[in-house]
Amino acid sequence: MAEQLGTLEELPQDYRDAMTEAGVAPLWPMMRNVLPHGKPNPTTRAGYWNYENLRPLLHRAGELTPVEKAERRVLVLSDPGRGAGAMQATASIYLGMQLLLPGETAPAHVHTPSAVRIIVEGKGGFTVVDGERLPMEEGDLVLTPGGDWHDHGHDGTEPVVWLDALDLPLFYYLEGSYATEGPLQAQRNRPDASQVEYLSSGLVPSRKLGGGARKYPMVRYPWPRTEQALREVVKYSDDGIAELDYVNPETGADVLPTMGFTAMMIPAGAKSTPPLQSSSAAFHVVKGRGKTTIDGEVFEWGPKDTFSAPVFAEITHEASEEAFLVRVHDRPLQEKLGYYEERAR
Ligand SMILES: [Fe+2]
Repeated sequence: MAEQLGTLEELPQDYRDAMTEAGVAPLWPMMRNVLPHGKPNPTTRAGYWNYENLRPLLHRAGELTPVEKAERRVLVLSDPGRGAGAMQATASIYLGMQLLLPGETAPAHVHTPSAVRIIVEGKGGFTVVDGERLPMEEGDLVLTPGGDWHDHGHDGTEPVVWLDALDLPLFYYLEGSYATEGPLQAQRNRPDASQVEYLSSGLVPSRKLGGGARKYPMVRYPWPRTEQALREVVKYSDDGIAELDYVNPETGADVLPTMGFTAMMIPAGAKSTPPLQSSSAAFHVVKGRGKTTIDGEVFEWGPKDTFSAPVFAEITHEASEEAFLVRVHDRPLQEKLGYYEERAR
């Protein structure tokens, strides 16, 4: 196999001109770009977003732009590999920090990409998904799956901030991204399914012939339960850390078709050294402090910070204080495409 393939410059100008005229191009000068040897050559670079820096910028957006003018008052976390303004944090994951002020509502809408919110701060915010009113409290994971109507509002007195994670880049790439707006939804007068049908792990509503569960039966994962579960798992963990995947309680599958979410606990002084994974990832710190080395680059993080890693990155997390993180990744998509892979470091 030749290391060096022929270049465009080696070809006679008249042939190059004729190809351009015919609307074709030679593959061989570009082939190593699209099909490199051994492993992908990602554009994505590791990113880090300090919440103390983002917070005043978000609040200023609240002063400068009324929500009617923004619809979604969001600061997008741009992949450093693609530069400022990039509408993605990795090839498949979009991340945005969203601010909602007391009394504001967002119009009801539905879109093709799926979204997940991780609540960063504030009380009184809520999202309505298919008529189900979901309280938004710090650390909660709230799903708005593609195709489900949703809107949100704010009954509290302080600003509410959440981190949005979407598979938007994928839908945009497929030229399949669009939204439809509608009137605010009527809310069912009852707590959300995480507080009723799916309160206890291992118990689901009795299965009746022909009943059939909703495609997304539980769309809110309250943080206190996640933390409690991690604290139990870590006591008996072989490697001193705990990881729990968020799944659909009816099927056990990942919560969304393309994006996966994993809650992590790293006790103070503990270290996590996962294998190299073909998935890209973003990490949001729910609480705690520590540092993460990604392909040799060191990021010191604290509560509410966010950072990202490209595919096959060598990642080492070390917690200086007991730390809880949520990892957003595209493993479910890669498994569906049949190429998810882990390699020894
Ligand atoms: Fe939305």
